[in-house]
Amino acid sequence: MSLFPNYLRHDIAFVKGKGAELEDVFGNKYLDFGSGIGVTNLGHSHPRVTRAVTEQAQKLWHVSNLFTIPQQEEAARLLCEAGGMGAVFFCNSGAEANEAAIKLARKWGKEAKIILEPEIITFQNSFHGRTLATLTATGQDKVKKGFDPLPRGFRILPYQDMDAVKRATGATTAAVFLELVQGEGGVRPADYDFVQELAAWCKEKNLLLMIDEVQTGIGRTGECFAFQAYDIQPDVVTLAKGLGNGFPVGALMAKEAIKPILSPGSHGSTFGGNPLAMAAVIAVLQELKETSLLTEAKEKGKYLHQLLTAELAEVPEVKEIRALGLMVGIQLDVPAGPLIKQLLEQGLVALPAGENVLRLLPPLVISKEQIEQGVAIIKRVLVGSKEAQLV
Ligand SMILES: Cc1ncc(COP(=O)(O)O)c(C=O)c1O
Repeated sequence: MSLFPNYLRHDIAFVKGKGAELEDVFGNKYLDFGSGIGVTNLGHSHPRVTRAVTEQAQKLWHVSNLFTIPQQEEAARLLCEAGGMGAVFFCNSGAEANEAAIKLARKWGKEAKIILEPEIITFQNSFHGRTLATLTATGQDKVKKGFDPLPRGFRILPYQDMDAVKRATGATTAAVFLELVQGEGGVRPADYDFVQELAAWCKEKNLLLMIDEVQTGIGRTGECFAFQAYDIQPDVVTLAKGLGNGFPVGALMAKEAIKPILSPGSHGSTFGGNPLAMAAVIAVLQELKETSLLTEAKEKGKYLHQLLTAELAEVPEVKEIRALGLMVGIQLDVPAGPLIKQLLEQGLVALPAGENVLRLLPPLVISKEQIEQGVAIIKRVLVGSKEAQLV
């Protein structure tokens, strides 16, 4: 095989998908509780997104950002309207969106606060991407191994420790950057009070509050953005994953007052925001705006959480079930990897998060019956694996 061995892959090749269903090369059907990794939030082959991308593909795929791109302006308008923001920059992935946020925070720190070497506070167990700056911002050593020297300018603090934030805030602090639900770190929703206190602290100390919504954004938590569940208005938000429902696209959003920081020539991307990607983004945002999917996602998330809690109550390996909307983490005291293999054998696609967490990110279009079907498979596998251990 001519690929780098950087991914540990399952020996399954999917060829088709519709809604929450996938089909492999042999015609085996799977129920998808992963949505890629939280990407196809509207489900596979969503008719509106497919139509929009197909129509755009027949007209014009790409023009450079040296020209006006009306689809980009419309996508930015819809994002700003949904998130109460003032400006958007489009790129191609989550790491790139976060890289742009880091650059924005540094330049803002220099220009608005006259800091020579601006510092960004991030948190342990976070995940912000695989580029050099974003892996440095990430609060997990495993993603950094072998890649030093790393850039300066990050302070990684214990998650949800407000005292640590207060102690670490100094004359060189420019921004605080966090996920409201740590996704790769095990589906850990932040406490409401911590987020409120952090937002107030950022305001008091004139720090940018930057939220990484690469995984939590675009309806995943039952709100368009997770920050809406926490009743805060961040200064900066990053997006990717669900934004194009599988079409690769990322975005950085910021408040109007910060807009001038990305001055002409300060940042850019060849592909970012091209008409094809923007067709997908506009279709996704219109679908969320014009349908009741967000409300449904909230209800379905509650139902999934309740059902899992009831059905797995007697399974000793299950230590905790954490959720916000359709972002669910089942904390186990055994490795999640072997269970995921068994779930696949039973026709369910699920994800790991860290060592011991089974992560469920089903599409927002999942039906009640499919939720029940998925939970039944999880229960069967968890109970079965316990019985197998006892034999
Ligand atoms: C919260 C968060 N930030 C950033 C990223 C990186 O996104 P990408 O893989 O698109 O670069 C991820 C990916 O899992 C993520 O979950």
